Amino acid sequence: MTPPPLRWHIHPQPDQVAAALAARIVADASRAIAARGAYTIVLPGGATPRRLFAALRDADAELGSWHVYFTDERCVPPDDPERNDTAARSIWLDRVAIPSAQIHSIPAELGADAGADAYSRQLAAIDVFDTTLLGLGDDGHTASLFPGRPSGERPDTPAALAVHGAQKPPRERVTLSTWRLAAARSVAMLVTGAGKRHAVASLGRGDALPATAVARAASPRGGMDVWLDAAAAADVVSAIESS
Ligand code: 6PG
Repeated sequence: MTPPPLRWHIHPQPDQVAAALAARIVADASRAIAARGAYTIVLPGGATPRRLFAALRDADAELGSWHVYFTDERCVPPDDPERNDTAARSIWLDRVAIPSAQIHSIPAELGADAGADAYSRQLAAIDVFDTTLLGLGDDGHTASLFPGRPSGERPDTPAALAVHGAQKPPRERVTLSTWRLAAARSVAMLVTGAGKRHAVASLGRGDALPATAVARAASPRGGMDVWLDAAAAADVVSAIESS
């Protein structure tokens, strides 16, 4: 398969990647607010974005105009340490002046089906996000879109999908679908650590992965920016330099 349009942003260390991506987000937000009076960003789950959340905590931005959504959520109670929004809130969102009404957690505590239905209804009001941020699993999953599972690539599928029996525990989840994640002015993936080098190389080849599908769906708006440290980029650096 031909690779999707990817732009690589490689920095030696994870903290440097987080700082550079945070600066790009703040600049994008400033432009969005100047143009449309608001900025919408979709945050990823997992452990990787925690450095980014810390970098954003100290950023100088017009936070009163920011609206925050989430790529996916685990079906556990609010404030559970296993929830993706718990890390974002404890490290960043609860410490800055984004109005709480503008932080839109996925109601995954309702259960996968009811939570997905409720979030799909909530997202109907948003045609295009400004920024979608994604993580990458070592098997090529992104958000809670896992290999071999329905990923919602067609725009007539729901914006949010129920996930039952996910390969990564907790097994019950809610995830934005492929087309919904890609419906953004900017799609960016943040990947760090040697453990992701093979998944990054697979994405770079255009292998059939959920992460690749999101990048392809983002092609009409320019594809996807991949922000990564040297360890995660180890298997793609030579291909990038020769391209
Ligand atoms: C989740 C995340 C998942 C995550 C990747 C990477 O619910 O676990 O949404 O998609 O982004 O698995 O996780 P790490 O950043 O912890 O490696």
